[in-house]
Amino acid sequence: MFFTDELMTSILALIGTVTCLYYFIKYSWELLIGIRVYILAKFWRTDLTLYGEWAVVTGATAGIGKAYAHELARRGLNVVLISRSLEKLRATADEIEQQHGKKTKIVQADFNNGAEIYGPIEAALKDLNIGILVNNVGKTYQVLPCYFLDVPDVEKAILDIMNCNVLSVVMMTKIVLPQLLKRKKGIVINISSEAGAHPHPLITMYSATKVFVDFFSQALNAEYKPNGIIVQSVLPLLVSTNLTHDQETNLFVKGADDYAQEALNTVGLTEKTNGCLSHALQHFFFERLFPRWLRLTEFNINNMKKLSERRKPLVEKWRWKQKTA
Ligand SMILES: NC(=O)c1ccc[n+]([C@@H]2O[C@H](COP(=O)([O-])OP(=O)(O)OC[C@H]3O[C@@H](n4cnc5c(N)ncnc54)[C@H](OP(=O)(O)O)[C@@H]3O)[C@@H](O)[C@H]2O)c1
Repeated sequence: MFFTDELMTSILALIGTVTCLYYFIKYSWELLIGIRVYILAKFWRTDLTLYGEWAVVTGATAGIGKAYAHELARRGLNVVLISRSLEKLRATADEIEQQHGKKTKIVQADFNNGAEIYGPIEAALKDLNIGILVNNVGKTYQVLPCYFLDVPDVEKAILDIMNCNVLSVVMMTKIVLPQLLKRKKGIVINISSEAGAHPHPLITMYSATKVFVDFFSQALNAEYKPNGIIVQSVLPLLVSTNLTHDQETNLFVKGADDYAQEALNTVGLTEKTNGCLSHALQHFFFERLFPRWLRLTEFNINNMKKLSERRKPLVEKWRWKQKTA
């Protein structure tokens, strides 16, 4: 025989050694990058004021958007706040001006309304020296996760979610990017979601819009990086906001302020991020323990339905509190 036992043993040992070495180097490298991005960045981060005087944040009156707006002002930028409610816009602008001593500008716009809103937004941003755009606005279903056709008023829900989660990102980028290019520097931060990292049944439309945001960000970054533009895709897991019915914060669920602070530390260090250490670790383990094929099984869908039913009373209670507040 050409392959003796000894030769076979040596070949298998070599394959084993090379495989172990490959994984050792791969995971050590990932660990080093993770330490730089999520731990050292706290002390050694990009100076965001170098990119321009103003930051623009969509969906800036609550949750992650409001937290980004505050944190950007804390780091020295004036902030344009764009949302639906004039009352909330004024309140957030006052808070920012008083707490951080920076200028604000408010723009009232409902992103559900589609293409018609972008002319007035463009006019409002015309004379500002913008360095950063945060495409944060986004929505999911008004109800708990459910089958596509069971979403109440499904036709309106389709249009709203596409307008708010998809059209807003491309249109706002189209408005702001030309002036960033002129100055050969600028940052576009697009808030996607871990739900966009894989297809997610029962939040099907939301998940699909978030993969759009992620792919758009990655490809746009490749196109404009040579011109000094950073496009960052941010994929949070759970953050305690209206969208998650103010879930209690813990090791896994971040508070919006902490999240924005950590996520902004990663700008300039990574083009795609879960935003904070806790979410990056959760992503790492979910990827390995919960593969895509399992996510798409009926077994998983049934489990998600059960989980959703269990959360129903809590969500009802949250809604009632919101109404009576
Ligand atoms: N929270 C999470 O766990 C989580 C996880 C992954 C990804 N995300 C993503 O993070 C982003 C922010 O989510 P969030 O949890 O902070 O949401 P949120 O608490 O519901 O806040 C949404 C913000 O957007 C504004 N807004 C909503 N609909 C709007 C519309 N049609 N036109 C204009 N403004 C609108 C809201 O203000 P008004 O209602 O006053 O207009 C509010 O300021 C979203 O893109 C979401 O998909 C969140």
